[in-house]
Amino acid sequence: MDKYVIHGGTALHGEVEISGAKNAAVAIIPAALLVEGVCRIENIPQISDTDMLLTILAELGARVSYINRTTIEIDCTDARYQDAPYDLMRKIRASYYLIGSMLGRFGSAKTTMPGGCNFGVRPIDQHIKGMTALGADVSVKNGFVYADALGGRLHGARIYLDKVSVGATMNIMIAAVLASGRTIIENAAREPHIVDLANFLNSMGADVRGAGTDTIKVNGVEKLHGGSYSIIPDQIEAGTYMVAAAATGGEVLVKNVIPKHLECISAKLRETGTIVQEYEDSVLVKGASNLRRVNVKTMPYPGFPTDMQPQMGALLCLANGTSVITEGIYDNRFKYVNELRKMGAEIQVDGRIAIIEGGRRLTGAPVMACDLRAGAAMVIAGMCAAGETQVEDIHFIERGYENFVGKLRALGADISLVSFPDEAETGSDKIIAFG
Ligand code: EPZ
Repeated sequence: MDKYVIHGGTALHGEVEISGAKNAAVAIIPAALLVEGVCRIENIPQISDTDMLLTILAELGARVSYINRTTIEIDCTDARYQDAPYDLMRKIRASYYLIGSMLGRFGSAKTTMPGGCNFGVRPIDQHIKGMTALGADVSVKNGFVYADALGGRLHGARIYLDKVSVGATMNIMIAAVLASGRTIIENAAREPHIVDLANFLNSMGADVRGAGTDTIKVNGVEKLHGGSYSIIPDQIEAGTYMVAAAATGGEVLVKNVIPKHLECISAKLRETGTIVQEYEDSVLVKGASNLRRVNVKTMPYPGFPTDMQPQMGALLCLANGTSVITEGIYDNRFKYVNELRKMGAEIQVDGRIAIIEGGRRLTGAPVMACDLRAGAAMVIAGMCAAGETQVEDIHFIERGYENFVGKLRALGADISLVSFPDEAETGSDKIIAFG
């Protein structure tokens, strides 16, 4: 079993380069299925979620070529509707975007109910509402989602989302670009990755307007053509390194970012006394010797992102005083709190509220990565704790952070990826260490 082994107490110093945005890439790759031509996509993050989606597309007949580490070409000209690798689909939540892209391209779709991080109920009723409004017959049976345009072509519709949903907004956008007529998505999510998807689709000949606002208009077109596109930097990866710099009391230049996408994170960090200086495509974060307590409430963009909530939880264990985190998006995104308690954190959780008694030194411990961002939070806590921390289930982390160990080691962190052969195999803890 692979684990991260961390020895805390080192302040991070240096520069880190941010990769392409995971939550943009996992929508753009499935959307390439709509294009009968070659899509050249740059700044793809090297993470397992994108690898899995590219494998699924190849199974549907797409030709995928790796131009270099972060650039691929996807040619879906000869893609055909057929059974896809459902075992892969089941592992990632973003597989739901294949409903919109298969429906838009083939007029029919069969996917698994989405997998992914488990922090409370994560229905897809808004996705189904949108596809149905576009003229598809949608049903869920035996763990699969079936959608069919009943032999015709999807048609435009006016869709009001009952909940601000990133996934539903993007999925409906994907399905609507080849539908006949105009689609209006109201109460749409406004995250940067939604704008990125719209820009990708428009570079392939679609007509999507208003992305980034709460009303998106899609004028259906007959066909999309090939083209090239570069994915935006990852807002959450950048925020994770910003919080790590603040928590360890270091000084880190976070490069290849769009500072506007980080405004809420920068503002919240400044409230703790952390210095955040913005430049054109980078931010400099200088940790404060005494972190101040703050309150955080996660909201849809441009509010404080829920995907930064666990990382802030780890940081606020170190801040002087009592901080309150209110999770505004999910029912149960505090599973990581139990892991922080193993390190000496004093946190009370009541539903969507966590009360953190800060100002204490954490101590290293064996902990789990409960999900992608919770795993990142445990790494941040381990880098600040006294002693050794081992983080298990790091596959969650590898889903969303490219070269996490390499980037942190380059900043001075004492972290290694270590493979512990199963006890049953060797009866001992023989360790093979990877830097
Ligand atoms: C996306 O998930 C991201 N995942 C999540 O990032 C992120 O936390 C979330 O957006 C919010 O920003 C991907 O983009 C692959 P939602 P998604 O639909 O689309 C409810 C990470 O760490 N809802 O915006 O699933 C839902 O339960 C991951 O990178 C419905 O009720 O999130 C939640 O309470 C974790 N019905 C709220 O809306 C629906 O049909 C927001 O969910 C859809 C969602």
